[in-house]
Amino acid sequence: MHRCLELAEEGRGFVGNGALVGSFLVRDGKVKAEASHKKFGNNHSERELLEKFDQEIYSEDILYVNLEPCCHTGKTPPCTDIILERGIKNVVFGMMDPDPRVSGKGIEILKAKGVNIIGPVLRAECERLNRGYINLRTKGRPWITLKKAQARDGSIAKPDGSPLKITSKEQDAWSHEWLRAKHDAILVGVGTITNDNPRLTLHELNKKFVQPYRIILDRSVRIPEASNVLCDEHRARTIVIISDKSATSDYAKALKEKGIRLEGIPMEGSNFSWDHLWKVLTTPKEDFFGITSLLVEGGSKTWEAFHSSGFIDEDVLLLG
Ligand SMILES: NC(=O)c1ccc[n+]([C@@H]2O[C@H](COP(=O)([O-])OP(=O)(O)OC[C@H]3O[C@@H](n4cnc5c(N)ncnc54)[C@H](OP(=O)(O)O)[C@@H]3O)[C@@H](O)[C@H]2O)c1
Repeated sequence: MHRCLELAEEGRGFVGNGALVGSFLVRDGKVKAEASHKKFGNNHSERELLEKFDQEIYSEDILYVNLEPCCHTGKTPPCTDIILERGIKNVVFGMMDPDPRVSGKGIEILKAKGVNIIGPVLRAECERLNRGYINLRTKGRPWITLKKAQARDGSIAKPDGSPLKITSKEQDAWSHEWLRAKHDAILVGVGTITNDNPRLTLHELNKKFVQPYRIILDRSVRIPEASNVLCDEHRARTIVIISDKSATSDYAKALKEKGIRLEGIPMEGSNFSWDHLWKVLTTPKEDFFGITSLLVEGGSKTWEAFHSSGFIDEDVLLLG
């Protein structure tokens, strides 16, 4: 199952609002073929595996997969169909699929056709990997991690609001690898952009991981045109959330013409409507396939908004 989880990671940043899934086929204790769900809309892992492995299947062969095989037709046909068609007799799975269209039915269908099922195996690890997918299917919103760097005197910036170096090199390396690289998107308020002009990238990890989307909350479109997130090589992965009223402003139109992604959503008081925000962030549109996890990096007003919303799954404080 650990190998399934490693294979599943191949899809990170590519599967959009779908699940991270890896699978492989074992015969006589040896791995015969491996596959993963590589991209939004592409074959699920089990279908990919069984289409790729076109040799005869033996009754003792075992299919390992970290997520219950699906039994519905979505963008691709049901995985239970190909498992049965190919004559797989043994399946080891990691966790149930929280998608109400599957949710135990995939396992039932296979069992009813005489397939031996073992699982859930390493359920906690499997659920941890797919925590974003689980949240989206069960709560209709992404997994939300809040990250805050704070000096021992409680400050988060210099008194004039300019950036204060708080974290050590080791803390930075850890948060890049375990926070930024493990979330589909990094979110900040526009105050952080105007004060710090951060890049919000993975820095040296760039080659190993896909750059997460950068989401900027900016009701009245005051983001400077020269901001790093609008000008660097990852600008196609920046989404500026503005109020629907601001969407008609000349500046918003000019940014759009430059190819900047702006999404206008309604306000509820001084906050964006959370429901609309989740909808925009998790619904595929053109070459954006949706996200399932969000790392909220600040600053104060943005943390406050998330705290009072109650939408925080994990809260990380880095003391420097
Ligand atoms: N130590 C750290 O970990 C850390 C991390 C990041 C930033 N910072 C520091 O934090 C400071 C910036 O914090 P800040 O509080 O001034 O600004 P901020 O939180 O970065 O941005 C606040 C602005 O974002 C928009 N916004 C945020 N949440 C919203 C929501 N739910 N709905 C609608 N709009 C929302 C609002 O824009 P409008 O006003 O236009 O409506 C709000 O004024 C900087 O000094 C920076 O150095 C520290």
